[in-house]
Amino acid sequence: MATVAIFNGKGGVGKTTIALNLAGQAASAGYRVLLWEIDGQGDSSWLVRADLSGKETDLSRLLNNIVDVNDLILPTRVERLSLLPADANARNADNLFIGLMRQQRLLPLFTQLQRRFDVILFDCPPGFCDANLKLLQAVNMVVVPCLPSPLAMRGLLRVRDFVMKARGTHAPILPVFSMVDRRRRMHTIALAEHPEWPVIPYLSEIERMLVERAPLSVFAPGSAAAQLFDRLWSGIEGKLRQSHLIRIRPDATQTAEIVPLPVVKKAAEARVRRTGAFASVRRIYARA
Ligand SMILES: Nc1ncnc2c1ncn2[C@@H]1O[C@H](COP(=O)(O)OP(=O)(O)OP(=O)(O)O)[C@@H](O)[C@H]1O
Ligand SMILES: [Mg+2]
Repeated sequence: MATVAIFNGKGGVGKTTIALNLAGQAASAGYRVLLWEIDGQGDSSWLVRADLSGKETDLSRLLNNIVDVNDLILPTRVERLSLLPADANARNADNLFIGLMRQQRLLPLFTQLQRRFDVILFDCPPGFCDANLKLLQAVNMVVVPCLPSPLAMRGLLRVRDFVMKARGTHAPILPVFSMVDRRRRMHTIALAEHPEWPVIPYLSEIERMLVERAPLSVFAPGSAAAQLFDRLWSGIEGKLRQSHLIRIRPDATQTAEIVPLPVVKKAAEARVRRTGAFASVRRIYARA
């Protein structure tokens, strides 16, 4: 089983959108997927129309062994996609991940979930809260949606620095340009700086998720927007399969093409560290 966190310290960069659509694509490719919503805002639960009536996620009960993790998981309307809804009390999420890490129970918890799921995707809240910090140390991969701007690059490096500091090593970090508008000069410059990073453009088809309240794989399968997420999932799937974390399920309805994905490149890191911004953006401002 593979564990993938969708994280950026910044808010509103497309984390939930990417998490839900990756979950939808993985489920339609035949994997048994758990979308674990860490973010107390509850956007993922709302977007999959989870029936939360009478059910309140109380992560303190999980930490204290009063409930089993399986009792917190709900089915969704999407085949093979389950949801672990957020605890509205963010402190409970912090305490859970701190406590599980301290008691060395987080990896055994993942092992327990391995019986039911092939992939867990974590929809993280923004910010460097304790829940995020502990989780990023434990997962197999971190997907970082980045707005195409120099500030986003600094945020990406902060993610990497944090995980490195905590572990001395880090799981693959996959930056993804999110909400890209190619009519904007800053965006095209950013894309040119990192042509190998996957791109999710700003599309009304993607925004329609808010009305349909489902992943694109459900309400617009085969659309250009769905194909973007399918491609992104295929790249992630390829990396996870290379690491033997997941394998094609016998009941898979389709076999996704494997697309190689980049990890944060050393040269790009060094450049951003040196300049604190995209070099070409600096040149433009220097000229102004
Ligand atoms: N590629 C896109 N095209 C169009 N709209 C998008 C796209 N990505 C995200 N959005 C919209 O932008 C808004 C913010 O996206 P989202 O909720 O996914 O961000 P987030 O990083 O999860 O935010 P938060 O930090 O608050 O959790 C939402 O209204 C979403 O529908
Ligand atoms: Mg979100």
